[in-house]
Amino acid sequence: MASKAVILVGGGTRGTRFRPLSLDVPKVLFPVAGRPILSHALSALSKVPTLKEVLLIGFFDDSVFKDFLADSAKEFPNFTIKYLREYRALGTAGGLYHFRDAILRGNPYRLFVIHADVCCSFPLNEMLEMFEEKEAKAVILGTRVDPEVASNFGCIVMDPHTKKVVHYVEKPQSHISNLINGGVYLFDRSIFDVIGAARSARAEQFRADPIDDEEAEILRLEQDILVRLAQADGFYVYETRGFWRQIKTAGSAVPANALYLQKLFQTDIYAPNLARASAFIVPPVYIDPTATVDPTAKLGPNVSVGPRAKIAAGARVKEAILLEDTEVKHDAFVLYSILARGVKVGAWARVEGSPITAVDHLAMTSKNGVRVQSVSILATDVAVGDEVRIQNCVVLPHKDIKVDVENEIIM
Ligand code: GDD
Repeated sequence: MASKAVILVGGGTRGTRFRPLSLDVPKVLFPVAGRPILSHALSALSKVPTLKEVLLIGFFDDSVFKDFLADSAKEFPNFTIKYLREYRALGTAGGLYHFRDAILRGNPYRLFVIHADVCCSFPLNEMLEMFEEKEAKAVILGTRVDPEVASNFGCIVMDPHTKKVVHYVEKPQSHISNLINGGVYLFDRSIFDVIGAARSARAEQFRADPIDDEEAEILRLEQDILVRLAQADGFYVYETRGFWRQIKTAGSAVPANALYLQKLFQTDIYAPNLARASAFIVPPVYIDPTATVDPTAKLGPNVSVGPRAKIAAGARVKEAILLEDTEVKHDAFVLYSILARGVKVGAWARVEGSPITAVDHLAMTSKNGVRVQSVSILATDVAVGDEVRIQNCVVLPHKDIKVDVENEIIM
């Protein structure tokens, strides 16, 4: 029996927290650990034996995914991949309802729904096992976070013995649970009955209290569907012990890069493009085969170097993403930073962010009581002069930085 997956990719009006990196490429196609964010989810889906089709649902122009779909079709021949475009943002369940015929075509018996902006170990087969064992109607991926940040997510109250969801609240005002919605779900076909019922209830509510038609059409998986599922039988949590984080801000790409690189390194130390450990390489380090790295430059841990990048003698790069055509001149230092396409860092310059851990879900840091971006981000074609120091800054495209800067957004 075949299963399918839907990945919710959002659209151009979302992902604004990912600026300035999303000015060039939509967040879901931004490369972490050498490949687009979306590819990591596809790679996990390719390990589900029954999976026959993946549908990306969003409201980007069709052209955005053209090349990605062509590349992915070659990389993942076991399933077909299509992009279905919402005519506007329909909400996290609105697209599922709108494209229900396409989703149900071929009679899939299980449906994965995945948020494109989660970075995790994707324990999909484990979720399937739980689904069968519990004879569930729905399984949600749960993960534990620090209680202080839990209310930024959907919070789940679970029966610890049966693993049943007994209560679900989306981004609650007060603390309910530190077990949160990990943005990966597994449903059977009956989910469309629940979505249909939620849609009718919403239409009814808007008839009684009309606001605007566009709002009435929006369906939210969390508030409209999961809350209903929690009130019925058959909704379970698979609590992952593996890594999990969201990729929301541009800075959060740095810990996501680290997590995916570590996963790759742990599963296949000889994976293509992973540099071998040496006096100058602290793994994991990913280097595109077209990049040039001087043998006296020291890289790692947790560094991805993109196509045609150049790193000169004596440079030091750590916890960083360097995209295509970037250049780091001799003896420069790059730490907790992202260099977008074409960025040049001068000799003896320093580009630095602050340490950010994999479980720091806000990717911000506090300096004298002011919250600033913890990772430094240099957008497309920024040039940093020789010996200049940049610390905790976001620099918008095409700027020449000739003096030291700290805790600034440079427009
Ligand atoms: N197709 C489509 N249409 N996708 C959408 C839409 C829409 O109208 N709105 C959001 N998405 C996609 C986003 O691109 C993202 O991948 C995912 O749905 C969730 O996005 P948000 O609406 O930004 O929610 P959130 O990230 O703040 O919180 C959600 O995810 C958390 C886990 O990552 C909630 O489900 C939380 O409960 C959950 O903890």
